[in-house]
Amino acid sequence: MAKKTVTDLEVSGKRVIVRVDFNVPIKEGKITNDNRIQAALPTINYLTKNGAKVILLSHLGKIDHKDPVKLEEGKKKNNMAPVAERLAELVSNKVTFVDETRGAKLEEAVKNLNDGEIILVQNTRYEKGESKNDEELGKYWASLGDLFVSDAFGSVHRAHASTVGIATHLPSACGFLVQKELEHLGAAIDNPKRPLVAILGGAKVSDKIAVIENLLKIADKVIIGGGMAYTFLYAKGYSVGTSLLELDRVELAKEFLEKGKDKLVLPIDDVVANDFANPTEIKTVKSSEIPEGFMGLDIGQETIELFKKELEGAKTVVWNGPMGVFEDPRFANGTKEVCKILANLDDAMTVIGGGDSAAAAIQLGFKDKFTHISTGGGASLEYMEGKELPGIAIIQEKA
Ligand code: 3PG
Repeated sequence: MAKKTVTDLEVSGKRVIVRVDFNVPIKEGKITNDNRIQAALPTINYLTKNGAKVILLSHLGKIDHKDPVKLEEGKKKNNMAPVAERLAELVSNKVTFVDETRGAKLEEAVKNLNDGEIILVQNTRYEKGESKNDEELGKYWASLGDLFVSDAFGSVHRAHASTVGIATHLPSACGFLVQKELEHLGAAIDNPKRPLVAILGGAKVSDKIAVIENLLKIADKVIIGGGMAYTFLYAKGYSVGTSLLELDRVELAKEFLEKGKDKLVLPIDDVVANDFANPTEIKTVKSSEIPEGFMGLDIGQETIELFKKELEGAKTVVWNGPMGVFEDPRFANGTKEVCKILANLDDAMTVIGGGDSAAAAIQLGFKDKFTHISTGGGASLEYMEGKELPGIAIIQEKA
């Protein structure tokens, strides 16, 4: 059954708690990428336009509560103030930043909130109980509102007090961002037009075991690139030089090769270098012949051609993880060429998982070239694994 969405709620004059994912990169107090704030605007603007009193909750970064020194450092580093400043620039309604996660100041601000106005609460992870889905904390936050809207797609794989706890105490619905993410990921993973081709990259096999398992079941082809490919090449009996290699995953990679057979497509040539940070020699070699003292840092031209052939005629493509060390222009070509191939596919739905692949696609200039770029890293990965997402599961069904 479908989940309720924000348009199913009577929001006028109501205090609406919205869990957003404002976990944005911040350097020296400045937000370097505000995509996630922008992505939450449709829900926030809908609510303010319809006369709701909007209370926004989000986490920012990670905070260690075990060590008091680290706790203070974490709080300082992950203060939500710059986010409030940016949000105020993006909306036309009044934004009040409450520098606390509970207590009189927050309660007073909520009491004084007028219809159409917004409060942004300090980082939810200032609270120790947030990540443990502490019962009392969820109940306390719920007491500040009348309704709950889940719009933090990037956090729906977390069963935390602000994502799940509050929703157990209030009428709830999904926001427009969560709705859009579920529509696209659902169409790609649960109900794909075939052929469905999955492209997986990134550093480690161990980060993506469950996703490889699930995609080998549901996709017509699974293309593997990036650092994780070297464990597969090693499992095939190739020498991989000093490339990233997870020895403890070689047996698993062998099982995947056995299970996947022709479905699994690996690189056939690689761009290798004699050093990661300061290479003095960079060359392209066959994947079966990576020399001693060299590490693979990108896929080669023949591999790009092979992947292009495998992607011809695809009607659905899901992609998670870059093909090489794209942050370094010398090793960005493979990721860029895969972006180009996807951008030029005729009549195909292309869905990019969040995290590194989304960052790569955006950094390389392909932001508007795909059907959907997810705002969730871990969340989109867990969706591709076929897992239930607790922050979605808790939301009420439509009547
Ligand atoms: C993300 O950046 O993937 C989300 O904001 C979740 O963050 P977390 O991994 O710290 O829970």
